[in-house]
Amino acid sequence: METKITEIADGIFRLSTFVPQIAPPAGFVFNQFLALGDEPLLFHTGLRKMFPLTRDAVSRIIPPENLRWISFGHFEADECGALNEWLAAAPQAQAAHGQTGCQVSLNDFADRNARQLADGEHIELGRGKRVRYIDTPHTPHGWDAGVLYEESTRTLLCGDLFTQLGDDAALTHGDIVGPAIAAEDLFQYSCLNPNMGATIRKLAELEPRTLALMHGPSFSGDGAAALRALADDYDRRISTRGASATVKAA
Ligand SMILES: [Fe+2]
Ligand SMILES: [Fe+2]
Repeated sequence: METKITEIADGIFRLSTFVPQIAPPAGFVFNQFLALGDEPLLFHTGLRKMFPLTRDAVSRIIPPENLRWISFGHFEADECGALNEWLAAAPQAQAAHGQTGCQVSLNDFADRNARQLADGEHIELGRGKRVRYIDTPHTPHGWDAGVLYEESTRTLLCGDLFTQLGDDAALTHGDIVGPAIAAEDLFQYSCLNPNMGATIRKLAELEPRTLALMHGPSFSGDGAAALRALADDYDRRISTRGASATVKAA
C-alpha cells in the first residue's frame, strides 16, 4: 500500500491510502488531512495498523514531531486508532474533540489530556488558518460525531459524510452525492435520526468551497448544494423508514 498526497486547498493536504480488498472490485480509501500553520493539525489519525504509512506521508510535508493538534470525526478505529502512536511521536501534540468525545472516550483512551471543544469553538493554527469545531451528533454516525471547518480556505473536513467506494480522483468537481447514496445503500453506515437533515443543512450554511471526504475524493465547487442534496436523501430515508414502522405498528 502507498499513501498519495494532494494539496486540496491552500495549505491543506490529503493523505490517501487505497485498500483494494475492502468492497472489491471498487476498493475503498482512507484519507487523513493535514492543515499547515504554526500549529499544524491532523484530521483523522488513520488506523493504528496504518500508522507507519501515515507518519511517512506526514513526514513528506512536515517533521511529524511538529504536529500540534489531532482531531477527527468520531471515536472509531479509522478516525483515531493511531491517536496514542501520534501522541508518542509528536511530544507537543494534543487531541481536540467535542464534549461527548472527550468525556465518553478520550479522557480515558488518550495518553495525554485532550482539549475539549465547545460547539463552534475555534483552534487558531496560525499563518491565517483557523478551524471551527461543529457538533453533528449521530451524523453520519457516532454520539460524539463532529466536523471541522477551516475558515480561510472554506474547507469542510467532513469525515464520513459522503462516503463512497473507489479511488477515482484526489479532487473532483463532479457529482459526489450519487456515489454517496450508492455507498449508503450498500453499507448502511449512517445512524438515521430525525435531526440528520437539519444537522447537514446547518453545515450547508457555511457555504464551503471544498468538502474533504474521509472516504472518497475531495470536492471543489458548490459545497452547500451537495450538502443540501445529501440532507434531502437522508430525509427521504428517514421518512420512508418512519412510514414503514407506522404501517407495522398499525
Ligand atoms: Fe466512522
Ligand atoms: Fe471513516
